[in-house]
Amino acid sequence: MRRTRVNDALQSQAPMSSVLVKGWVRTRRDAKEFSFIELNDGSCLQNLQVIIDDDSDAAASVKQINTGSAVAVEGELVASPGKGQQWELRASSVAILGGADPETYPLQKKRHADEFLRTIAHLRPRTNKYGALFRIRSESAFAVHQFFRDRGFYYLHTPIITGSDCEGAGEMFRVATLPASGPPAAADEPLFDGDFFGKEANLTVSGQLEAELFASALGSVYTFGPTFRAENSNTPRHAAEFWMIEPEVAFADLDDNMDLAEDFVKYLVTHVREQCAADLDLFGRFVDKGLMDNLEVIASKPYARLPYTEAVEILQKAKKDFEFPVSYGVDLQTEHERFLTEEHFQCPVIVYNYPKEIKAFYMRLNEDDRTVAAMDLLVPRVGELIGGSQREERLDVLERRIVESGMDTADYWWYLDMRRFGTVPHAGFGLGFERFLMMATGVTNIRDVIPFPRTPRNLEF
Ligand code: 4AD
Ligand code: MG
Repeated sequence: MRRTRVNDALQSQAPMSSVLVKGWVRTRRDAKEFSFIELNDGSCLQNLQVIIDDDSDAAASVKQINTGSAVAVEGELVASPGKGQQWELRASSVAILGGADPETYPLQKKRHADEFLRTIAHLRPRTNKYGALFRIRSESAFAVHQFFRDRGFYYLHTPIITGSDCEGAGEMFRVATLPASGPPAAADEPLFDGDFFGKEANLTVSGQLEAELFASALGSVYTFGPTFRAENSNTPRHAAEFWMIEPEVAFADLDDNMDLAEDFVKYLVTHVREQCAADLDLFGRFVDKGLMDNLEVIASKPYARLPYTEAVEILQKAKKDFEFPVSYGVDLQTEHERFLTEEHFQCPVIVYNYPKEIKAFYMRLNEDDRTVAAMDLLVPRVGELIGGSQREERLDVLERRIVESGMDTADYWWYLDMRRFGTVPHAGFGLGFERFLMMATGVTNIRDVIPFPRTPRNLEF
């Protein structure tokens, strides 16, 4: 017999005389003539209530069905007289697929602290909260592809191992080109003498430069992949490994870029609200009581747009005791981003035209010669969700900016070729996927929205 998913059983329109479900036991409760088990198979938040009659054949093994064990249950799906569920399963047979010792199984039927669950990242998807979270993560990833596909973008795979530094910030993880194990390579073995590529290799911080090259051929592209930063990620918003979505659009300017960013965020939020309603509801009730109102604002209100200079003025006039004082030329900190979005505008905010000194070399220099056509999209609670810009398409200006940024034009010959041959204005941005998930669920620590977080001193497996 084929397995029915719990979600499908619970959505059933009619009773079913014979069903097979498989999953993990959340709890078992013994009453006078019955035992009840709550079964979850990951297909939805809700458990399926299974009733095992003391007189049935299934009763023999019931005492071994502990929290955490995996079982296969066959039986009849009938209307449930109890509260909280429409259907329940009356078991005719129960097979234990994999037991779990209740003395040592770390998950119990109670709310565990996130800090504790981080220490058992291999088991936390079996809890309600993390099951819901990772279903939302999966659905959001599909929504990303849907959004761009509907708009004629091509999905581009950019390399993870790279020879260049996209952000020019020197925050890259070096790739060791020595074999990690096995007998030591012979010294004369050319590939494994520590110089596999013949130059320094790093993990990519961004697929942007490669995306720019492809936008200059295919028109509109986007990347969606893991990126790595060897920066101080000892904050609730930074991870050393995170996933980024980077669209790049030829013949687009900064205004087009802001429009695309706003449409994209609204689309994702709307999609998650529609497709993940039950899972999202858990976060609205137990994680962040203001979540649904916040998502409503993000999905429907026009985002505020203002130049960096105006943002600085607002922050300077604010009657707030910021930890980091604001003046022209400083990078905005999370406290400033939160003030602008949560208190001043009470909606997402796009800040644009930043001083060139605090932004990357590839951003287009404005006529004032002081600012670049950069934009950051800030959202309540999370702060910076998106960073992007119109790109510097003029060869001479770009070469100057590379040198000013302390980099070597020779290393970027391939990037500069794009400006030599058929250069066009174009723009793009990067959205941090984990930051999006924090915003969508109200979870305040990035370690809790990625299956296996990579942060300083945190690499258990
Ligand atoms: O602002 P960033 O550094 O921009 C870029 O990487 C550009 N190359 C993007 C582009 O124009 N194509 O990063 C983009 C976004 C940030 O706004 C933030 O959401 C996220 O990536 N991000 C991080 N997320 C988690 N942990 C980190 N350490 C992050 N660093 C950036
Ligand atoms: Mg940024």
